[in-house]
Amino acid sequence: MDPVELARKVLSQPSSEFGVGIEAVRALMNSGQGAGRKPYTIIEALGDPRLLGGLPAFSNLESWTPWLTFLSALYGLPLSEEEQQRFCKHTGRTRYAPPEGGFREAAVITGVQSGKSRIASTIAAYEGLVAQPQADSTHLYAAVLAQDERGARRTIFSYAAAPFECSAALARRVVNRTTHTIQLDTGVVIAAYPCRPASIRGIRARVLVLDEFAYYIGSDSAGTDKEMLRAARGRIATTGGRVVIISSPYGQAGALWDLHRAHFGKDDSSVLVWQASAPEMNPTLAPDYLERMRADDPDAYRSEVLGEFRAGVSSLFDPEALEAVVVRGRREAGAVSGVNYSAFVDPSGGRADAFALAIGHQSGERAVVRPSTPLASWRKQRRS
Ligand SMILES: Nc1ncnc2c1ncn2[C@@H]1O[C@H](COP(=O)(O)OP(=O)(O)OP(=O)(O)O)[C@@H](O)[C@H]1O
Ligand SMILES: [Mg+2]
Repeated sequence: MDPVELARKVLSQPSSEFGVGIEAVRALMNSGQGAGRKPYTIIEALGDPRLLGGLPAFSNLESWTPWLTFLSALYGLPLSEEEQQRFCKHTGRTRYAPPEGGFREAAVITGVQSGKSRIASTIAAYEGLVAQPQADSTHLYAAVLAQDERGARRTIFSYAAAPFECSAALARRVVNRTTHTIQLDTGVVIAAYPCRPASIRGIRARVLVLDEFAYYIGSDSAGTDKEMLRAARGRIATTGGRVVIISSPYGQAGALWDLHRAHFGKDDSSVLVWQASAPEMNPTLAPDYLERMRADDPDAYRSEVLGEFRAGVSSLFDPEALEAVVVRGRREAGAVSGVNYSAFVDPSGGRADAFALAIGHQSGERAVVRPSTPLASWRKQRRS
């Protein structure tokens, strides 16, 4: 008998006669693997206790409503009137008009303890489950990238592994497991990696989720966000996959700030940028915790709770103010006779920070910093 017909017959029987086996068949039917149905959406998977909804954290989805709206938009699913209003509020757009199949690149900017890592891992698990095996049997990856090795191993990977431990139907989809990877019967490997471009070199990905992207710092204390984003985009170039960034904001500089400036509030942008406060995304956050955060450090509260970029924290000078006074296109300027120049040096102590030099002079009431690349700095050459 055709397996689909068999499964339908089994499902038409009272479940008591078939015990737990029937649950597996139902999950198979729902999964779209072989049943000739469209794969379940991420929202259906979260609502089904035999699938991603088997996680205790998702047993009541009411408090996850804002995340469900974001996920629906990410995958280009229909939104109710109320959801469209929420979409417009958090994206600064005036209408919901997703590209066919959803957005291939998205960034969520929100505060701490708002569900970022949980959702990052959920997206990776979902993508692994609904993938079609590759014709040449090669593996695709559904990976979450974390700030550091420890974060990748401990938090992110345990979040990503949790659905496969809570649901018998999902556990059966695992064909191999190591300390930091789960391989599914779709051929997709779910993994968590630290934020080094080398950690994803050579892989092809269905999805890469960049958790806490604004805090990607390499071993030499330099930001790796731009490099990571470039590397991640390359990993999905031939797979039709997605890059999803989920992060608390930091200063008004770096790749997350650039994405926000380029795509927030832009109706036709192909990159979805969603910004919300932590309590808007996680209404279960206790009011007294939020109040304590606000009272302790109002500046930190703005970024860590309200999800806003902080002005002037990422460097001595506010990058926007600095940019406004830079003469573009001038590579160098010669000394003018009769002007007294002063040089200011901040030598590196031989550690990871840069050796910096600036030359300036006074012009009436104003201080002028030259040469026109006003602050020259040298990074320690890394030994290979
Ligand atoms: N909307 C929500 N409804 C119910 N529980 C939530 C919600 N958002 C987060 N949680 C729970 O709060 C806890 C923290 O979530 P998670 O670690 O994903 O947050 P985070 O934003 O990554 O935190 P951090 O900023 O510390 O990295 C988890 O137990 C998660 O299940
Ligand atoms: Mg987190």
